[in-house]
Amino acid sequence: MSKGLFITFEGADGCGKTTQIKLAAEYLKNKGYDVILTREPGAKGLGEQLREILLNYDGIVSDRCESFLFLADRAQHIDTIVVPAVDAGKIVLCDRHIDSTVAYQGYGRGQDIEQINKLNMIATNNRKPDLTIVFDIDVETSMSRVGSEKDRMESSGTEFFNKVRHGYLEIAKQEPQRVRVLDSAKSIEEIHESVIKLINSLV
Ligand code: TYD
Repeated sequence: MSKGLFITFEGADGCGKTTQIKLAAEYLKNKGYDVILTREPGAKGLGEQLREILLNYDGIVSDRCESFLFLADRAQHIDTIVVPAVDAGKIVLCDRHIDSTVAYQGYGRGQDIEQINKLNMIATNNRKPDLTIVFDIDVETSMSRVGSEKDRMESSGTEFFNKVRHGYLEIAKQEPQRVRVLDSAKSIEEIHESVIKLINSLV
């Protein structure tokens, strides 16, 4: 593998993707790959400050402003971290990316999906992930895993998270080559095996 890879992990809050991304990183590092583990929002530097606003600001945030803040974080992340690493031959594993904005701000908040798609392409300079894994989870389990201490996004309610889940499944239907769905109800080990199979088909 001379060119690097860009792989994103997606799903509703509490879907287990953060556990899975760490396991995948460990597996790939053990195989000798140069791996970068990163996330949106909140990669190092400016991203950390944008994350703080997005998750903890307690005043009014308009829906369009929310979208633009996630997109601003994305543009910075793609330009300063993701693309340089992929172009240097590394495997970049990213916790959330373009599909979070489509699922949360598009399907969840009701922002125009076509517009979000276009803005995503501007924010990323038309660079799409090589593979996206969606961890599908039912809303009850997702909410119970999140617990009672919710951040600004997690406080959006059951109806919102039903729409987010539906959004992810729609994205996967529209881009079946790039976006693969795994069932989060399975055990951590079973899901990890499926993740590795998907990644190994690319490396
Ligand atoms: P985080 O604590 O990283 O949640 P998780 O561990 O579930 O990934 O918080 C990120 C939150 O921001 C999460 O609720 C999803 C939301 N989000 C959006 O609404 N739009 C986006 O474009 C992104 C990247 C995240």
